[in-house]
Amino acid sequence: MSGIRPTGFLHLGNYFGAIRNYVKMQEDFDCYFMVADLHSLTTHPDTKQLKANVHRVLAENIACGLDPDKVALYCQSHVYETAELYLYLNMLAYTGELEKTVTFKDKVRQNPDNINAGLLTYPVLMSADILLHRARYVPVGKDQEQHLEFARTYVNRFNHRYGVVFPEPYAFNYNQELVKVPSLDGSGKMSKSENQMATLFLADEDEVIRKKVMKTKTDQGPTILNSPKPDYIENIFGLMKLVSAEEVMAKFETDYDNCTIRYGDMKKQLAEDMVNFIAPIRNKINAILNDEPFLKDVMEKGAVKARISAKATMKLVREAIGLNY
Ligand code: TRP
Repeated sequence: MSGIRPTGFLHLGNYFGAIRNYVKMQEDFDCYFMVADLHSLTTHPDTKQLKANVHRVLAENIACGLDPDKVALYCQSHVYETAELYLYLNMLAYTGELEKTVTFKDKVRQNPDNINAGLLTYPVLMSADILLHRARYVPVGKDQEQHLEFARTYVNRFNHRYGVVFPEPYAFNYNQELVKVPSLDGSGKMSKSENQMATLFLADEDEVIRKKVMKTKTDQGPTILNSPKPDYIENIFGLMKLVSAEEVMAKFETDYDNCTIRYGDMKKQLAEDMVNFIAPIRNKINAILNDEPFLKDVMEKGAVKARISAKATMKLVREAIGLNY
């Protein structure tokens, strides 16, 4: 089970980090992937963009290979049982613990005028999402580890107080090490918020992709045979490894070692390989976005699947608590 915040415009880092993991998991497990629209209300009280954002995140994930026939792909707000479980879990959640959450403290700093209780209990709602399906494996990045720890705490408190209903959920990843997609400006990873020119979005047009790739920093090239690569050059090779053919990669590696590399040619090659990688995904995203009936159908089918699992869990929960009169 995992949740995806509908904050729009996925980039290459999301693709090689999260989505590829989801697409692989759908072959091996019973999966629930949910668009966390309720979570977005904690920080985005203005809901005018909500529908477009939900549609976009659905279209992007489907275009990348998530198959709504294989998984339950649904919207959090469509499964009302989430709200009920959230309420019960709130009685097991201590405010003192929640106040220490790193993401909460960040939000308080960024937005001192909107410190609402929903923000404080963000990890409780996320725990409800996971426990609703009694999920064990949660494909998320490092930034969500503290939230998962809350989920395990609530599982243990619930099971101890009312009787065993839930398994403990843990972060899940196929690769020991998550694939890091370097930013085009040579500083850190690609990111939605940092430098837009250094991030390749799945929605970027061909010309934008070319422009961004051609702007990456290079230098005069090596002058000593087999010298180590500076970080920003290593990054270009790293990006090439993701989208270019092996022979192409090998050629530029050899050129580098021989001091005959021409970075202009290398970037041109990378730009074309990026375009060839991103363009079909982008076109698919746009086709899906233009098909509202399809998106509605996906969400309805997803909600039906999610509710079957949610209803079964909530029956056990109410019985365990003693709400069965
Ligand atoms: N908090 C997650 C994020 O910021 C999104 C999320 C909501 C989630 N509910 C979840 C992730 C349940 C995993 C499981 O990305």
